[in-house]
Amino acid sequence: MNSPRLEGVRLNAPAYVNHQRLLDWVARIAALTEADDVYWCDGSQAEYDRLCQRLVDGGTLQRLNPKLRPDSYLALSDPGDVARVEDRTFICSRHKEDAGPTNNWVDPAEMRALLETGDHALFKGCMRGRTMYVVPFSMGPLGSPIAHLGIELSDSPYVAVNMRLMTRMGRAVFDVLGSDGEFVPCVHTVGAPLQPGQRDVAWPCNKTKYIVHYPETHEIWSYGSGYGGNALLGKKCFALRIASKMGREQGWLAEHMLILGVTSPGGKKYHVAAAFPSACGKTNFAMLVPPKAFAGWKVTTIGDDIAWIKPGRDGRLLAINPEAGYFGVAPGTNEKTNPNCMASLQRDVIFTNVARTDDGDVWWEGMTDTPPAHLIDWQGNDWTPEIARRDAVNGKPKPAAHPNARFTVAATNNPALDSEWDNPAGVAIDAFVFGGRRSTTVPLVTEARNWVEGVYMAATMGSETTAAMAGGNGAVRRDPFAMLPFAGYHMGDYFRHWLALGAKLQAAGARLPHIYCVNWFRKGDDGKFVWPGYGENMRVLKWMLDRIEGRAGGVEHVFGISPRYEDLSWDGLPFTREQFGVVMSIDTAAWRQELQSHDELFARLAARLPEQLPKTKASFERKLAA
Ligand code: GTP
Ligand code: SPV
Ligand code: MN
Repeated sequence: MNSPRLEGVRLNAPAYVNHQRLLDWVARIAALTEADDVYWCDGSQAEYDRLCQRLVDGGTLQRLNPKLRPDSYLALSDPGDVARVEDRTFICSRHKEDAGPTNNWVDPAEMRALLETGDHALFKGCMRGRTMYVVPFSMGPLGSPIAHLGIELSDSPYVAVNMRLMTRMGRAVFDVLGSDGEFVPCVHTVGAPLQPGQRDVAWPCNKTKYIVHYPETHEIWSYGSGYGGNALLGKKCFALRIASKMGREQGWLAEHMLILGVTSPGGKKYHVAAAFPSACGKTNFAMLVPPKAFAGWKVTTIGDDIAWIKPGRDGRLLAINPEAGYFGVAPGTNEKTNPNCMASLQRDVIFTNVARTDDGDVWWEGMTDTPPAHLIDWQGNDWTPEIARRDAVNGKPKPAAHPNARFTVAATNNPALDSEWDNPAGVAIDAFVFGGRRSTTVPLVTEARNWVEGVYMAATMGSETTAAMAGGNGAVRRDPFAMLPFAGYHMGDYFRHWLALGAKLQAAGARLPHIYCVNWFRKGDDGKFVWPGYGENMRVLKWMLDRIEGRAGGVEHVFGISPRYEDLSWDGLPFTREQFGVVMSIDTAAWRQELQSHDELFARLAARLPEQLPKTKASFERKLAA
């Protein structure tokens, strides 16, 4: 550490930090990035308010009308920095095969040269003119045996305030960390150093982006983006990509799953974990409000995006939500589709890329049936319904909010928050649900006959891509376990891990969670969703629970067991037998094609594909031919 800048950078470490390895690392990164200053976040409300005010003064945040949306802000991002960048995301394992064919891979030495050590390394001097924030956070309840700690160094105060809403962030982390505790080091820069006297822009970022993971050393380096999963490194980078690798080494699961509690009128409580790809309904399902006909049923939220699941001593699978807030999709959210979410967003929210109303509130597509007569859109331009029609894209009115516009809000704002959400012991999972966005082919719900067939269904899940990823255009792709962009190692090994865990628990006499596959998104000939979705998904959830209790009927078909019309409760919903036929239909020709695309996935993963999966496929094919 002989950088001439090092002496110039004051570390400013508070007296309560006495972890030498951490201090050395912070000093090294401050020297490398040539940050002007180092600031250690304590996680207090006063600090949050101060940083938000600084962001308002600098133009990154706009304060919303305190009467309509108290203590809430709007950020409008750079138009080129609006979603996760999967093609710029790298798993830099020592051996290419360990990252597998579904991840981008660069040799770690080469990547380090590019980012840190080379003559023109991107992180050299990248924080010039900026403050480096030291953001200590716990993924999971502080001190929980399922939780893990991280420290993010970032030159974005927007990241710092979002991390306070999304994680347990602040001084208490150092008590758990002590003088020698483990933490995942996360380095983040927007990649926009400032020359002396240069004015900053509202959303600094860089056209060049790198979202980099070193799975063997559990390190994260992120360059060039300030948006969501690219920048809030506790989320996808740590809690999924690095944690999935840790889980495989240590015998647990890190999954792209919501966790919900559901309590029957009789007071029996179940816990369900569900994996749907990005922007495919996790937040909505996690906050479900049962329809009137389900009086006495209650759904409560434990998490809306990520689950860490560890086998308990009794063989049950115990899950925690490593996060403490929601970074959720705004468009489509309204009082009817998700009233709990709307209630969560009444105050203390950071909105990003939604539209602003003339009275200083927010709006997005789907919030109300009729849009306001005038808005400022997510790019800061005037928006009226006429302008939207005039500037239509692909025949659709130009949206006022970006399709991947999001809100950041603490979980404690959620009126349906589960009483166990912060329990360090986690909750025992009764069922796993997997579901893609498929306008055709995949039926509303299927129960797997056993663990292996359930793993098969999850592994071969397909989904139409969404705006949550840069370039998402609605094309169907295989998204195994909704983890395609998030598995930190070879997808074949990931399948093997799931199969092995199931086999191990079963051998020990444990009762495994049931596995279900759902599709809320079947469309009719008119191009409209046939299934009403949202709260009505309760009808499907209830059938799943009844199956667990051995109470519900169903019919066995090629891939598993599905309900007949009479097996679901239709009280209060005019949904005909014919409509049910549409959302349940299994078209043989379409499924032959579907199985072919499973083959393509399996061929890609061949080197590490567990043999049970092609075997299961062969048995499905025999059934389909019969
Ligand atoms: P990420 O945060 O990206 O991981 O997404 P998510 O899975 O939490 O998605 P979310 O619940 O925010 O839903 C995204 C979009 O799907 C929204 O526009 C919703 O309105 C829509 N959606 C959610 N549930 C349903 C449903 O049951 N039916 C239909 N048709 N749309 C739904
Ligand atoms: C997703 O894309 O699955 C998200 C949003 O949950 S982000 O945090 O940007 O990854
Ligand atoms: Mn997600």
